[in-house]
Amino acid sequence: MAPLIELKDVTKDYNGKVRALDRASLEIYPGEWVAVTGASGSGKTTLLNMIAILDRPTSGSLRVDGVDLLSLTEREGARFRREKVGLVFQQFHLIPYLTALENVMLAQYFHSMADRDEAAQALAQVGLRERSHHLPSELSGGEQQRVCIARALVNQPRIILADEPTGNLDGENEEIIMGIFRKLRGAGHTLLLVTHDPKISGQSDRIIELEHGKILSPCCSAGQRG
Ligand SMILES: Nc1ncnc2c1ncn2[C@@H]1O[C@H](COP(=O)(O)OP(=O)(O)O)[C@@H](O)[C@H]1O
Ligand SMILES: [Mg+2]
Repeated sequence: MAPLIELKDVTKDYNGKVRALDRASLEIYPGEWVAVTGASGSGKTTLLNMIAILDRPTSGSLRVDGVDLLSLTEREGARFRREKVGLVFQQFHLIPYLTALENVMLAQYFHSMADRDEAAQALAQVGLRERSHHLPSELSGGEQQRVCIARALVNQPRIILADEPTGNLDGENEEIIMGIFRKLRGAGHTLLLVTHDPKISGQSDRIIELEHGKILSPCCSAGQRG
């Protein structure tokens, strides 16, 4: 089986000074759930940003789903991200004056295919059918994060990248969010989840640890399963 995500010697320097990623290489296989851990500043967000083409490496190569990401133009990169990747952040980034349903539909708008039923279905998938018409301020933190997951799911991406998605939540909501991620993995999505919390990284198939931009633990162990 070919890897879905493949980084080779990816280095990212900021301002020619800070080395946020240092020759990072990894392979992630379809359907895997991989946790990314490491101290604050170790390069976790930078790693996700590279895979989502939100930023580009200084050197190295990067393939996702067989496509050389560095060969894509800005426009092609944006399209690739929309089609292949769902993003979930620690900060929810919901539009405060739009309802849950409208926030999800707004994401569809950028896919130029706004479809109310599909947006409602994505909300139902995270257990929020009854909350569709509430504003973010009328939702708990956990519910807001579920809206964000619905927003990430609405285009049926193969890959879900989540950057400390439970960082702002209490234990109970954390468990609900983790239940959703487990379900997504069961449905065949490939998950890359950044977390500080061993309780969360322990649920993954495999843990990648970053230190000063370098990947510590060897990659590619669990990939050949199945
Ligand atoms: N846009 C940026 N400009 C300059 N330095 C940055 C930028 N983004 C991240 N860095 C630096 O790169 C390193 C890795 O950051 P980051 O990937 O955000 O780490 P983490 O997510 O593990 O906390 C840190 O030293 C950080 O300060
Ligand atoms: Mg970070």
